[in-house]
Amino acid sequence: MGKVKDIIRIFPALLLLLIAPLSHAGTDAGKETYLKRCAGCHGKDGTGNGPAARFLNPAPRDLTAGVFKWKTTPFDEPMPSGDDLYAVIAGHNAGPGWSGLGNTAMPGWSDTLSKGEIRDVAAYLKKLGGLDAPRKPSISASAGPSATAAAIETGKRLFKDRCAECHGAQGRGNGAKRLKDDWGGRTWPRDLTKSWTFRRGGGREAVYATMTVGIPGTQMPSFADPKSKKMLTNGERWAVAGYAASIDEPAKTPGTDTVVRAARTDGVLPSTPADAAWAKTAYASFFLTPQIIAGDRLYAPALDAISIKAVYNEKDIAFLVEWDDRTEGIPRDAKSMEIAGGEVEPDSVALEFPAEPPRDGDAQLPCFGMGDSLGQVNIWQWKNAVLEPLRLIDANGPRNMRERDAVASGLSANGVYDNGAWRVVFKRPLRTATPEIQFEEGRFIPIAFAAWDGSNGEKGSKHVMTPWFWLRLEPPADRTAYVWPIVAGILAFAAEWAWLVKRP
Ligand code: HEC
Ligand code: HEC
Repeated sequence: MGKVKDIIRIFPALLLLLIAPLSHAGTDAGKETYLKRCAGCHGKDGTGNGPAARFLNPAPRDLTAGVFKWKTTPFDEPMPSGDDLYAVIAGHNAGPGWSGLGNTAMPGWSDTLSKGEIRDVAAYLKKLGGLDAPRKPSISASAGPSATAAAIETGKRLFKDRCAECHGAQGRGNGAKRLKDDWGGRTWPRDLTKSWTFRRGGGREAVYATMTVGIPGTQMPSFADPKSKKMLTNGERWAVAGYAASIDEPAKTPGTDTVVRAARTDGVLPSTPADAAWAKTAYASFFLTPQIIAGDRLYAPALDAISIKAVYNEKDIAFLVEWDDRTEGIPRDAKSMEIAGGEVEPDSVALEFPAEPPRDGDAQLPCFGMGDSLGQVNIWQWKNAVLEPLRLIDANGPRNMRERDAVASGLSANGVYDNGAWRVVFKRPLRTATPEIQFEEGRFIPIAFAAWDGSNGEKGSKHVMTPWFWLRLEPPADRTAYVWPIVAGILAFAAEWAWLVKRP
């Protein structure tokens, strides 16, 4: 009897516990957390006008507008679920070094805030935005039909028809349109080969959810809307999601690499980006970050990562530099100018080396931003330009640059744009008679990169870049390492055989 009494006594509390997660009346408990952690971007009043907002693309959301991009409720239900708000605040896409919304400034908060604090701040957002409870349940984006080869083939066909106009024929986001979101900000269709940039995270389920729900406030529609001419059946959406997940290129995810390992070959070096020989070498990939240190600064970059391969033989070294760029950026080309919304500068990429890499690993390196008075750098710059496509620059800082004859030092470059990706091959003799970087096997040589997206108004000091990383010309694998175990095996076999033969 005592037990029953106890249950009756705590029943109202149990009922409250059950109802609490369903109740959508916002509360003030999270206000303090909001003002401390969120207002800097989203603004004190939640309208997205915090002091940091003008530097960010995508912009911090106006949380009072009732438009949510990363929800799981259906396309015809504008309100997010309580779990959606929780998930987006706690952190969505665990990309390299980032637990927030992939490739945006929106951090993930699960390391900083307790579960209770996240719940409170989510409840405060409901109050701030005057949000109602959703009337429709969330979609289910698990346990889809398996992604067979045939389904992926179907998905590929549907992708060409429904997605390529915005996401490009190979999914690199190089659609033939200039897009704006409902808040007037420029948006770029996602590069589907880079799942590390996805807000919702990579994989088939996440893509299926995005296609089904759409991305409210942007031009990415829902493909589940029966009123739309673009509507896809459930099975078709799974097929497209399977195809989209299959074109991801995880081998080019930046974040963990620090060394470009040049492989030794005895043959001729590849001199075009299309050369099949490149397939044998692995990529090293790095984040590109906007130049905001000196001169004309860049705040809304369009390029985010760069991938490099290198091979060398006894005479020369060749680099393959690859980066995705949604626009080929042809100066004075009408289509390029339409997408850029103005003048177009040539796209460009540069490799940078210290002219004399220090022998001692701890020694001071020149500033990676074009060197300094103490340390000279050599810059190899390739441009998508008919005249002067290749420049060789010695620099001791941005105001102290001298051009040199690239041909005299044997430097050449060759660039090709294909469906949203630039591939440029640089080639040079390992050693030159001129005073500049000399490539030596086995040494760690500092290397840095810069890139310009000419359709994004990038030129001069307005560009994206990396800090110093390393290049190492890997000595050929020691062949005796493979020979000795074989010799030892033969000797052991011979000894055993001799012993068997000798046995009476
Ligand atoms: C450094 C800037 C920054 C801070 C700090 C920040 N946000 Fe954001 N937030 C953003 C940006 C940028 C977006 C837009 C992302 C997009 O468009 O995909 C965003 C989007 C959101 C969204 C919309 C998600 C959706 O589904 O559309 C919510 C909700 C949100 N933030 C809540 C918060 C909360 C709560 C905090 C504090 C705990 C916070 N943000 C702190 C930058 C920030
Ligand atoms: C009219 C243009 C348009 C079409 C058509 C379109 N998309 Fe998108 N898509 C976008 C834009 C714009 C974004 C980025 C929105 C943002 O985050 O601001 C996007 C983003 C995405 C994302 C990223 C989601 C994430 O988590 O970050 C995926 C996946 C995606 N689209 C898949 C598709 C697929 C698959 C199709 C075809 C069935 C398609 N899209 C058709 C414009 C389009």
